[in-house]
Amino acid sequence: MISLILDKRLQRKIIVKILIIEASTRKNAGTQGHIDALIKANPKLSFEEISLLTEKLAPFVDQRSQNSWEYATPTLPLLEKMLASDLIVIATPVYWFSMSHLCKNFFDYWTFFMRAGKTPDSYFLKDKKVFTLLCAGHKEGSEWALGSIRESVKYVKGTVIKEFIGLSDREGNPNKNTLEEISQINLEQVLN
Ligand SMILES: Cc1cc2nc3c(=O)[nH]c(=O)nc-3n(C[C@H](O)[C@H](O)[C@H](O)COP(=O)(O)O)c2cc1C
Repeated sequence: MISLILDKRLQRKIIVKILIIEASTRKNAGTQGHIDALIKANPKLSFEEISLLTEKLAPFVDQRSQNSWEYATPTLPLLEKMLASDLIVIATPVYWFSMSHLCKNFFDYWTFFMRAGKTPDSYFLKDKKVFTLLCAGHKEGSEWALGSIRESVKYVKGTVIKEFIGLSDREGNPNKNTLEEISQINLEQVLN
């Protein structure tokens, strides 16, 4: 799924692919509500969305010393999708001032992606832009989750171009102000 956006620096339209990685442990709750609001705010753009809940990745196991990663190969399509994207939206609930375990398990697989990556030096997010979209119960302390994602992305040479902490209640209903704020996010501007 591709989108055409105006690149202000090049002064011409360019093609971008946007991948959303959703890491809530429940369906159609706050994280998804925030994603839906982001998609609604950018009707001219196309998005591909992956749910880590649906992907059911096996728990990551450190196989670096054995260099035998067979069990991890089912995750390669996720790496391929990231490599094919220009913007990756990482949408995770905040659990204990960090990302959800689904998100963390996925990040642990980046250790495998660094070895399986096709880009030089295994910096597989080189030239990729990342938007971190958090769904929290409260803002206080949630910047720790942002920091963890920011440093991980930086480690594999990606660039976090936007960070947003949205709020939802325990039932998974997005906060009204959060939805209002997300409705103002223009991804074409963010990408420029
Ligand atoms: C295990 C667990 C830990 C949580 N820890 C935090 C936290 O540290 N900070 C916070 O702001 N909210 C925390 N929350 C609240 C969730 O971030 C919030 O309910 C959010 O809406 C969950 O995303 P979801 O609606 O997509 O499931 C926690 C919720 C759970 C279930």
